[in-house]
Amino acid sequence: IKASDVNQAGHLQIAGVDALELAAKYQTPLQVFDVGKIRQAIRAFKRVFEEEGVDYEVSYASKAFSCLAIYQVINEEGGHTDVVSGGELWTAMKAGFPMDKVSFHGNNKSRAELEMAVDQGVGVIILDNFHEIDLLSQILEEKDASSKVMLRVTPGISAHTNEYIQTGQVDSKFGFDMESGQADRALELVLANPRMKMAGIHAHIGSQIFDVRGFVGCADKLCQLASAWKEKYGYETDILNVGGGFGIHYTDQDQPLPAEEFVRAIVKEVKSKCQENNLKLPAIWIEPGRSIVGPAGFSLYTVGSRKDLPGYPSYVALDGGMGDNIRPALYQAEYSAVVADRPQAEDEERVNLVGKYCESGDILIKSCPLPKTEPGDVVALLSTGAYGYSMASNYNRNPRPAVVFAEDGVDQLVIKRESYDDLIANDLKYQK
Ligand code: LLP
Repeated sequence: IKASDVNQAGHLQIAGVDALELAAKYQTPLQVFDVGKIRQAIRAFKRVFEEEGVDYEVSYASKAFSCLAIYQVINEEGGHTDVVSGGELWTAMKAGFPMDKVSFHGNNKSRAELEMAVDQGVGVIILDNFHEIDLLSQILEEKDASSKVMLRVTPGISAHTNEYIQTGQVDSKFGFDMESGQADRALELVLANPRMKMAGIHAHIGSQIFDVRGFVGCADKLCQLASAWKEKYGYETDILNVGGGFGIHYTDQDQPLPAEEFVRAIVKEVKSKCQENNLKLPAIWIEPGRSIVGPAGFSLYTVGSRKDLPGYPSYVALDGGMGDNIRPALYQAEYSAVVADRPQAEDEERVNLVGKYCESGDILIKSCPLPKTEPGDVVALLSTGAYGYSMASNYNRNPRPAVVFAEDGVDQLVIKRESYDDLIANDLKYQK
């Protein structure tokens, strides 16, 4: 925690708003975003591209956190966004996000989703497999329409990360394989289809990556492919989209480069490889999700029960848990926490910070160093902005928390807390 995160009362503050006031005003569990941090993250990426003098897009991967308000902020910052479902696309549309600045991803987009994308004039559809090429060409034919497309390829890079969140290796469900001729065949199909305008090549190697070599390797592979395609088909790519995955700080074990430094390394690699291979310098697109919203998010919970057992770490239970943040249970993801009214207090014990869900695995932080807590204390988990709310569930029929945006000392509700009535809104009584 930085000194700037603590106010005069000694409390945690988020964008100048006292975390205790937020907890009292909106109740807990509560997800809060420091909107200034989101803006800064986007601007830092843009600055690097501007300094390097390349064409670019920063395309926010909205699976990390999707709601009307976030698309508004991304749009205000001049960003693109990528969506992976009809639901994300719908949300972006309803937020007034310009459809021509949307990329549509996914390994099994449905006919209905593709039709929606074509009808709405989505900027680019990122083709993932042969079935989709087929489906999209049918749809374009039926609608007498055309679409920009990119081809997603697997560059054969295994980034060192949790196996569930690595995607660039050969054995992945995503994208066209580069080695076996799949990618070539896909390009042939796209180039032969006058309704498809081939806009660029895409790859994404994984998520929460710290090692810049993975990205450089990916950039290198894409340049090789671009060069091979120029030679073989006379097709020269306008865009290289290198995906997202830039790692962020969750605990002090994580020492990532500033996210924009990954980008600098990628840009330098693309520049040098293009020069080497006599390719025109394409625009470089990135798709960061986590690094844009992750560090900006704070989860506020209230302490309740406690279980002490001699010889074992104590359990301190919070009023949320795996329903609003599945990442620890699913990926053994780690977080840090502070007590909101004394974030700089000395740690006095190590406790298992657990949730309220009926599962032994509902542990938000194992062996978490904290000052002694009492029921009623507000605890904040840090850097929870990515893949927390967006992966939330109603497990145990717990309502999803509210989400608040804070900026320049002002807080505003952007997603209401679910009510019990919301939970049964789609339920129908069984009649026999
Ligand atoms: N582009 C594509 C094609 C992706 O599949 C992803 C993430 C991203 C961009 C954004 O990656 P980011 O910059 O956020 O790392 N639920 C997991 C992460 C899954 C990521 C899936 N794809 C987690 O909570 O760690």
